[in-house]
Amino acid sequence: MSVLITNIGELVTNRPGDQAGAAAFAAVAGAALVIDDGLVAWTGPASRAPAADQVVDAGGRAVLPGFVDSHAHLVFAGERSAEFAARMAGLPYQAGGIRSTVAATRQASDDQLRANLRKLAAEMLAQGITTFECKSGYGLTVPDEARSVALAAEATPEVTYLGAHVVPPEFAADRAGYVDLVCGAMLEACAPHAKWVDVFCERGAFDRDEAAAVLAAGQAAGLQPRVHANQLAEGPGVQLAVQAGAASADHCTHLDGADVDALASSDTVATLLPGVEFSTRQPYPDARRLLDAGATVALATDCNPGSCFSSSMALCIALAVREMHMTTQEAVWAATAGGARALRRTDVGHLGVGARADLVMLEAPSHSYLAYRPGVPLVAGFWLGGRGVVGGQQVVGGQQTVEGVRSGG
Ligand code: NIG
Ligand code: FE
Repeated sequence: MSVLITNIGELVTNRPGDQAGAAAFAAVAGAALVIDDGLVAWTGPASRAPAADQVVDAGGRAVLPGFVDSHAHLVFAGERSAEFAARMAGLPYQAGGIRSTVAATRQASDDQLRANLRKLAAEMLAQGITTFECKSGYGLTVPDEARSVALAAEATPEVTYLGAHVVPPEFAADRAGYVDLVCGAMLEACAPHAKWVDVFCERGAFDRDEAAAVLAAGQAAGLQPRVHANQLAEGPGVQLAVQAGAASADHCTHLDGADVDALASSDTVATLLPGVEFSTRQPYPDARRLLDAGATVALATDCNPGSCFSSSMALCIALAVREMHMTTQEAVWAATAGGARALRRTDVGHLGVGARADLVMLEAPSHSYLAYRPGVPLVAGFWLGGRGVVGGQQVVGGQQTVEGVRSGG
């Protein structure tokens, strides 16, 4: 069945292709879009829209590609609000907090982990995130990492094996033994469920050589690399990511000139996670320097119980615009097409003909409201693979307005 969404105040399509950022942001005013068989079949001015089986009148609202969250840690148990409160009272963020979530995760049943993951995935979708990546990394034993990636694979195709999150306490005196496990039996158990291998390359986590070994082993097992890099201090993570051909170097909070140059002259996306700097009260990454140098920038939530317990891409966009001096166009591109680039996906992050019909409709006339009205829930509805939900109601048949769908009429 085909669906025509018409009377769209602003339709953000993004240009597919090699360009990035503001140059690739594209929007049409007074637009319409046709979905057929779960894919975008037509976009253009509403006045020229073709007929369809069903018509939804967007009432002047903006429609964007669904957000693509390329960095999240959703398989965990417990929470760390006390750590957050202590941080706000002056304690610094340390990677070691991860170990308390590891302890809680190991104690949890599969059903508890699955329920928490589903709840967070639903929370993301209700806020317009239609594609998300999900990492393991709070199990850190062979069975706990294996069940983490298996549970993540129930919820998303973008599953990342992060056995190298931190060295767990039982290996504190044998780091090399833990790296061997991550590169050996743990990888073997996890690789069948994962697409990506990630490593936290940071003081307090894994050094350059350890991280390089983890990425090489993962690649040999058929996984594609991505790296947690340069979050807490300058270090080797970004260079390692670029040398390994990683799809993304994530965080990029502390970069030197060579790091910026390396990102700008590679296919490795700089994924910025401003919710982390917000929640850990750290300086924001220098997005302008990266963009002006020509690097491809993505925005992602990093939703996790420690450094940023937010599933809001709208918050990331608002922070990127207000605090990191990205334009509203750059920020929305980074949260959609940039995320897709960071996951090496061409079917999402834009609304060109043939793209997956993953859409978000805002209770606003333009994309800029995501930063202009911070903290306001602006998602009026979404379409996921062509299936629409507006105001919590399934969009079904006939001629409808957004108000009509909401009221069930
Ligand atoms: O991306 N940097 C490593 N991992 C997470 C933090 C996870 C945690 O604190 O539990 C991050 O910020
Ligand atoms: Fe992370």
